Amino acid sequence: MKKKVAFTINDEHMELEIESHKTLLEVLREDLALTGTKEGCGLGACGACTVLIEDSPALSCLTLALEVKNKHISTIEGLMIGDELDPIQLSFVEHGAIQCGFCTPGMIMSAKALLGQNPRPARKEIKYAISGNLCRCTGYKKIIDAVESISNG
Ligand code: FES
Ligand code: FES
Repeated sequence: MKKKVAFTINDEHMELEIESHKTLLEVLREDLALTGTKEGCGLGACGACTVLIEDSPALSCLTLALEVKNKHISTIEGLMIGDELDPIQLSFVEHGAIQCGFCTPGMIMSAKALLGQNPRPARKEIKYAISGNLCRCTGYKKIIDAVESISNG
């Protein structure tokens, strides 16, 4: 059964008819072609599908699309400012914190939420904030360095 849902994605207001069983991840990727948000495990274990709901990180694979009614969702596609990368994206590039890139959108969204709440996190706070985001390539050090360098200005 479909239901009408209104929400905002990356500052764009929209109303969609959505099958009630669909996850936010499915709606983003399949209905809105916002494929920057990745599906890893689909079970809440890898963090690849992390988006922000009202500026807090959330696993879109575990979130029903109907749950985000009237909420604001941010995805990796919304981070660029015009043609400019967000400072977090730039820092990931500069620190070599991206290898295959599959974890990167979710990792960056978790970092974005952290820096939004705490602009100067300690290294252990960065580790904690990304602890739900798995990366099988980088060994995490360069990712933590990338986030830390932003917090150090
Ligand atoms: S795809 Fe959502 S946590 Fe892995
Ligand atoms: S860069 Fe490959 S999983 Fe993180």
